[in-house]
Amino acid sequence: MLLYRNKLRNDIIMNNQLETLQQHRQALFQAYQDRISINHYLDRRLVSYQANKSRSGYNWFKYREGFSSQLVNYLLKEIHPVPGRLLDPFAGSGSALFAAALQGWETCGIEILPVGAYIIRARVAAEQVSPHKFAGVVQNLLSLDFTDYYDEAYAFQHIPITHGAYIPEAERELIGYLSYCMTNIADEQIQQLLEFAAFCILEEISYTRKDGQFLRWDARSGRSLGKKPFFKEKIWSFREAITMKLSQIASDLMSYRIFGSNWDIGSKYPTVYVGSSLDILPTLDKESFDVILTSPPYCNRYDYTRTYALELVYLGYRHEDVTHLRQSMLSCTVENKDKQQHMRRLYQGLARIADFDQITAVYEAQCGLHEVLEILEQQRESNLLNNPNVVRMIRNYFYEMSFIVFEMSQLLAPNGHIIMINDNVRYGGEEIPVDLILSNMAAAYGLEVEHIWSLPKGKGNSSQQMGLYGRTELRKGVYVWKKNK
Ligand SMILES: C[S@@+](CC[C@H](N)C(=O)[O-])C[C@H]1O[C@@H](n2cnc3c(N)ncnc32)[C@H](O)[C@@H]1O
Repeated sequence: MLLYRNKLRNDIIMNNQLETLQQHRQALFQAYQDRISINHYLDRRLVSYQANKSRSGYNWFKYREGFSSQLVNYLLKEIHPVPGRLLDPFAGSGSALFAAALQGWETCGIEILPVGAYIIRARVAAEQVSPHKFAGVVQNLLSLDFTDYYDEAYAFQHIPITHGAYIPEAERELIGYLSYCMTNIADEQIQQLLEFAAFCILEEISYTRKDGQFLRWDARSGRSLGKKPFFKEKIWSFREAITMKLSQIASDLMSYRIFGSNWDIGSKYPTVYVGSSLDILPTLDKESFDVILTSPPYCNRYDYTRTYALELVYLGYRHEDVTHLRQSMLSCTVENKDKQQHMRRLYQGLARIADFDQITAVYEAQCGLHEVLEILEQQRESNLLNNPNVVRMIRNYFYEMSFIVFEMSQLLAPNGHIIMINDNVRYGGEEIPVDLILSNMAAAYGLEVEHIWSLPKGKGNSSQQMGLYGRTELRKGVYVWKKNK
């Protein structure tokens, strides 16, 4: 009965989706219909970082885009159970890398945002410290008055979007804490972890809250722009927040010791490249990975550089660095300019202009995509879009993803799998079937599209979109592509 109901629901969703799409997207849908299915094992909680248990170490820092280690374990077991070499070209906080490494995989990640690389390094440091020594250092540290150690040399160089983010006393204590750690703690791993603890609480002690496309400011900061004043639940004092974070880390480290960390039975730490996958993927060895498991940025206007502005300033990023970083990331904000010249020069430099031409041709052949772009372009000309640069963003996103999918297909060993987690999106009432367009690119590069799994309940619309266009579900899912030769 349950199976029948699931099938019925599946059919209804598919029919609804089919009716709302125009010619080319309908054709695309029909071409892959038999590969699309709802996977009832996947749910939103599993796909997000919330499902991580405390022992994973990931909830010391809330990397919102991270997926859970349970999801990685499930996907590897289901699709490619024999360990080999695994790559995540959008590694974020390293969920795929650590979960796979614990299963015996040799792992490699690429991440452009220094925030992700910093979290990964802290996680490796955590595996190497002595929990008892760490607890002793923490106890001594918490007896200090951090303002006594304030040193201007360690003060933050704020950028316009973080100016005034902290209560001045909290910022003074934070800087005092950091200068103490940097000058008085000799053990490199412990020092790294202590600094990381401060990194984890920046949002809690600030007037800001991460809100997707920007930082939302509490009305008490005097910087709030919205009509309705916004108040955060609580702004923590530095001492409260750091005491809680250090205690959490110390107690988690102790439980690793009690329950045993798996690293000492031979798992290898992940290798991480810090930079853009667009630049790094073409330089890696062909056919050298058995699985590529990744979740690229979604085509959803999410701005990582604004969301993580406090953390970037903490890491020493200046205004121009942040602006440059935003432009180097995979295009998913309305501010991203196109990277066509950059890509052409890169492939010319690698003497691979034939690949460049093929990648461009595959992008241009995506009729479903160009159908939406044309409709949205008309809407843009009639001033019907919330932001006119959305069209450019979508175009750039798929142009760049064409390079990513091509390079991934080259790096995959025969019988290897690519597993991608991504969301479909909608703009101006038009659904963009990201899963089908990317799968169609993968097929053009010789990969077999094995599954397009959808989460049991897809995403709805924003309330604004719902009012205008009615509610139809957008697929949110996991796609599996295989290299057959
Ligand atoms: C959806 S998140 C991945 C999260 C990751 N799965 C985790 O569990 O933490 C996408 C990541 O891609 C990164 N990214 C964006 N553009 C990139 C690029 N050109 N090269 C490498 N990484 C990039 C973002 O910084 C972000 O961390």
